[in-house]
Amino acid sequence: METKIFKAADLPQVIDLLKSGEVVAFPTETVYGLGADALLPAAVKQVFAVKGRPADNPLIVHVSDFEMTKQFVEKYHPLTQQIIKEFWPGPLTLIFELKKGALNPVVTGGLSTAAFRVPDNKITLKLIKEAGFPLVGPSANTSGKPSPTTAEHVYHDLNGKIAGILDDGATQIGVESTVLDLSGDVPTILRPGAVTKEILEDVLGIEVPLDAHLVKETETPKAPGMKYKHYSPDTPVYMVENSDWPAAIDWAKSENLRVGILAGPAISDKFTGLNHFIFENDSIEAATHGLFSGLRALDQREDVDIIFANVFSEIDLGLAYMNRLKKAAGQKYFKK
Ligand code: TXA
Ligand code: MG
Repeated sequence: METKIFKAADLPQVIDLLKSGEVVAFPTETVYGLGADALLPAAVKQVFAVKGRPADNPLIVHVSDFEMTKQFVEKYHPLTQQIIKEFWPGPLTLIFELKKGALNPVVTGGLSTAAFRVPDNKITLKLIKEAGFPLVGPSANTSGKPSPTTAEHVYHDLNGKIAGILDDGATQIGVESTVLDLSGDVPTILRPGAVTKEILEDVLGIEVPLDAHLVKETETPKAPGMKYKHYSPDTPVYMVENSDWPAAIDWAKSENLRVGILAGPAISDKFTGLNHFIFENDSIEAATHGLFSGLRALDQREDVDIIFANVFSEIDLGLAYMNRLKKAAGQKYFKK
């Protein structure tokens, strides 16, 4: 199959393909999604097949507005209006209790709840509105690879396996949406993202707990997808604390390992002559934006044996960044 690259002007063609059950990748503000009509079970199955995704890992249903969720959702949490007013469209996925039979079990993995999100991307919102059906959309990577933040990343992983890619340049945020469970009494964060615990608590005026597995690694995650080892490049990745960089670089030299550095300019500038992927600046936003791109870029280089990535503190957006980096690194830190 030829994988076509589409632009905003090609929306009618993209809609036709989706209507006929084809899979097309779409842009969002977080990462690219692998889109199919959420109401066509055969098309949704194709999404799982293309990615090599386990069937027990349910998909996010992307809608164009809150109104569109009403045909599926049985019951809303009392804080729903306040939350969507503040954060939709945006990088926040909400889990609601479903009406019986409202969505096919291929979408939900057989759960009685489902995940919904209004992505903050103009072209994709127009696509969903004009198509008239919601789009399922896991990240558009091969399972186990870093999520794609450009159309080129999608093409690299899925060329020949999907009908097309709707290209809208690089995504802004760089990691997947926050997943907030609103199906119980207490809103709970199942996956950290750009809508942080701190921001949610500030807006809602209540404590918003993290799912147990985010606090203690031995606990089972409530979001099925969080149990899988994600975002893993083939080149070994080590996390490096700020103060450990000189020792890490010396050690790699002594082992004759060619290092790829994933860090902001403050660190990168100290170690010239090595392979770098430098974040735009030293902020956590820039690091989050560049994390998956950087892992992919360094992983593809023949002259990199080992990747060192900079550690941030696990507060605010740092929690989302570290959650993804720890998985990519298989939890490994460089230690002197
Ligand atoms: O930013 C994003 O969220 C991207 C873009 C494309 O929207 N999508 C994305 O989808 O990351 P995916 O499929 O890679 O991640 C969805 C996460 C998984 O961890 C899944 O287990 C969880 O949401 N999830 C989905 N439905 C759920 C449910 N009913 N209960 C608990 N967790 C659920
Ligand atoms: Mg994913």
